[in-house]
Amino acid sequence: RVREVRGWEALDSRGRPTVACRVTLDGGAAATATVPSGASAGSHEAVELRDGGARYGGRGVRTAVSHVEGALAAAVIGVDIAAVDDALRSVDKPPYAAVGANAVLAVSVAAARAGAAEAGVTLARQLAGDGPLLLPMPMVNIVSGGAHAASAIDIQDVLVIPHAATGFAEAIEWAAAVRTATAELAQRRGHDAAALVADEGGLGLRLPTNRAALELVVDGIDAAGLTGRVGLALDLAATEFFDGGAYHLRREGRRLTATELIDEVASWCADYPVLSVEDPLAEDDWAGWAAATGRLPGVQLVGDDLFVTDLDRLARGVAAGVGNAVLVKPNQNGLVSGAAAVVRAARDAGYRTIVSARSGETEDAWVADLAVGWRAGQIKVGSTHRSERTAKWNRLLELAALEDTTFAGPWKETR
Ligand code: PGA
Ligand code: ZN
Repeated sequence: RVREVRGWEALDSRGRPTVACRVTLDGGAAATATVPSGASAGSHEAVELRDGGARYGGRGVRTAVSHVEGALAAAVIGVDIAAVDDALRSVDKPPYAAVGANAVLAVSVAAARAGAAEAGVTLARQLAGDGPLLLPMPMVNIVSGGAHAASAIDIQDVLVIPHAATGFAEAIEWAAAVRTATAELAQRRGHDAAALVADEGGLGLRLPTNRAALELVVDGIDAAGLTGRVGLALDLAATEFFDGGAYHLRREGRRLTATELIDEVASWCADYPVLSVEDPLAEDDWAGWAAATGRLPGVQLVGDDLFVTDLDRLARGVAAGVGNAVLVKPNQNGLVSGAAAVVRAARDAGYRTIVSARSGETEDAWVADLAVGWRAGQIKVGSTHRSERTAKWNRLLELAALEDTTFAGPWKETR
């Protein structure tokens, strides 16, 4: 049972406040958690409560922290660890506009961890129960744009999937090799900014077109000697450049209809080894999403801002046959158990799951345990640079070294 809940304001990787929490159980087991924050957040996500006012440009979370130590603590103290999420849900309903999903998730994660600590196991093992632990195939950011790199390019991420790797450590090694080779190529081609990093540790490069970014990463894969073993993944985060009913590629000076944007993406998929495309259309463009699903057979089509780790939105997508994979961001949902339910629903519908961090992160790495314990198959936490990113890769390497795990393995078997 929960004995005490404490909260405080910490900092995320963008220097903005975020909620931190410690949950202590009757037996003395205790655990902390800090929560992340998105920049290209979907409008249907659970609500992140910010103070407004002058502190930190209005981004303070003292009110959310007061709810951690107030209403949320009152609801969970004395409650069995297995019933904590239900108790949290009794305080406020999704999207948690009153207490803040940032407050709710901090308690939910810290409690899950405290339960694992009490049981003397890792959070991954606690979530998996008696089932196997699965190390995910990583999806690793190489070039960043959009809201994560001052719109250096319009699309948000060009990533790699080391699909032919036979172990998690090898997958990360290959991704790091591509990151290094791409940075060297970029510098040789006169992109001085290749020495700097974007919000998720990728290269923030001002390139003339989005296609040029794909081309550069493909050249990086080639320079690393990994052609045929590493493929591309894209996150367009198209909601961010959907403006006045059109998709506005500002760097290229083009305004596209949904059909024209899908044609553009289809041409990238024809010319480059693109395995996965996330948010190719805006968050409420269901018709465009349906069209894209028909136009891009064989490509993993991931809904992030579309599904926002929400059972109802996922069910709508499944019913309409839209997309075939879900990005699972616990803070879009608010509860560990809520995000787990989305993973189960996706699996039941034959959709793949990719557990994901946010662009604003901390050194906390619980999201890695979630991916392994839930056997999600894939994970996306940014690039191989910046400590808030490597914290997650390093936690996965730790679980690979110390736990009995299998690797999700070659692309075709990641389901
Ligand atoms: P965000 O970006 O955390 O800024 O929303 C991550 C993503 O879009 O996948
Ligand atoms: Zn996304």
